Amino acid sequence: MLLTRLINVLGVILISIHFIAPSIYYVMAMRWLRSDYGLRRITELDVDPSFVSIIIPTYNEARVIIQKLNNIYSQDYPRNRFEVIIVDSGSTDETIELIHEWVKNHKDVNVQVIRESARMGKAHALNTALRYAKGDIIMITDADSIWMSDSLKNAVSWLMNDNVGAVSCNKVPRTDKDIETEYRGYYGLLRVAESKRFSSAIFHGELAAYKRELLEKIGGFPTDVGADDSHTAGLISMMGYRAIIPEDVRCIEYVPSKGYWSWRVRRAQHLIQHFSRILRYMIFNGRSIPREYRQIMLYESYLHLINPWLFAAGLALIVISALHGSLISMALLLVGLALLAIRFFRTWVVTQVILIVAAIRNLWNKELVWKKIEK
Ligand code: GDD
Ligand code: MN
Repeated sequence: MLLTRLINVLGVILISIHFIAPSIYYVMAMRWLRSDYGLRRITELDVDPSFVSIIIPTYNEARVIIQKLNNIYSQDYPRNRFEVIIVDSGSTDETIELIHEWVKNHKDVNVQVIRESARMGKAHALNTALRYAKGDIIMITDADSIWMSDSLKNAVSWLMNDNVGAVSCNKVPRTDKDIETEYRGYYGLLRVAESKRFSSAIFHGELAAYKRELLEKIGGFPTDVGADDSHTAGLISMMGYRAIIPEDVRCIEYVPSKGYWSWRVRRAQHLIQHFSRILRYMIFNGRSIPREYRQIMLYESYLHLINPWLFAAGLALIVISALHGSLISMALLLVGLALLAIRFFRTWVVTQVILIVAAIRNLWNKELVWKKIEK
C-alpha cells in the first residue's frame, strides 16, 4: 500500500517536471519574442549586392526539381548576383535530364551541375559543392521546398550585418496533417524567439545561408551529424556569431503523407545527434560559448534529450500504481486520456514518443544517408 503510494507520488513528480520545464522555457521565450533582434538590418542592398552561391543537393528529385529551379529563377534578386550549384549523388530517375533541359531554356542564370558517382549523404554532397562555389554567401536549399519571392533578398540583407553568421527560414508546412501544423506553429515561435535572444537552436535545410568564411573556419559541413543545417549553425554560434531565423524569411515545405512517421523519427534522430554533440561541447568548453546561446542550448538539449524520458518513466510509474489499485493513478490516467482530445496536448505527446523512439533508434542506425520519402 505504502509502496503503491510512493510509486504514485514519484510518477506524479516526474510528470510534473516534464510539463513544468517546457512551460518555464515557453514563458521565457515569449518574453524574448516581444523584443527585437538587437541587430541593425540593412534593407537597402546596394547596386551590387553580395554574390550568393545557391546549392541544391539532389537525390531522385525529378518530381520537384523544375519547380525548384523556377522558384529560384523568379526570386526578387539580380540574376547576375547568384549562381546555382546542383550536386547530385547518383540519382536514378530523370533529375539530371530535367535540369539540363531547364538550363537550355534559361541562359541568363548560371547553373552548374556536379555529379557524385556514389551516394554518401547530403552533407558530403554539400562539401563537394562548396569546392566549386564562388559566393561569399553559401545558401543551401532542399529540392522539395519553395521560397517566397523575397526570401533570398531578405536573407542576404540580414547577413550584411557583421554579427550575423547564418540565416534560416520560417517554415510553413504544406499539409493537411493537423499534428504537423500544430507542431510547426509552436516550434516556429520558439525559433524566432531564440533568434531574437541570440541564435535559433535549430536550422532548416529549406533555406540555410552561411557566410563562407565561417564555413571554412569550421571545416565545411559536418558529415557525422545528421542535422547538418542545425549543427553548422550551432558551430557558428559557438564562435560568437548569430545564427538567426528572421520573421521575414519564409519558406514552404512539403510534408510526406505516406511515410510521415519514419520521416519524423529520422529528423528527430538527427536533432538528437546535434544536441548531444553541442551539449558535449558545452560541458568541456562551456566558457568560450556566448552566455545567451549556452542558456538556449541547455534548455533545448534538456527538452530533446532528457525531458521525454521523464514522461515515459512517470507514465510507467502511474500505470503500475493504477494496476495496484491506486484510485488517484487511475483518475490521473483518465484525465490524461481525456486531454488527448486537445490538439496541442496530442501533438505534444506524439512528439515525446517520436523523440524516445528516435533516441533508441540512434543506438544502431544514425540515418546519415537516408531513404527517400516521396512528398
Ligand atoms: N546530393 C545528395 N546526396 N543530396 C541528397 C542526399 C544525398 O545523399 N540525400 C538527400 N539529399 C537531398 C534531397 O534530394 C533533398 O533535396 C535534400 O537533400 C533534403 O533531403 P530530404 O530527403 O528532402 O530530407 P528531409 O526534408 O526529410 O530532411 C530535412 O531534415 C534533414 C535533417 O534531418 C531537411 O531539412 C534536410 O535539409 C535536413 O538535412
Ligand atoms: Mn525535404
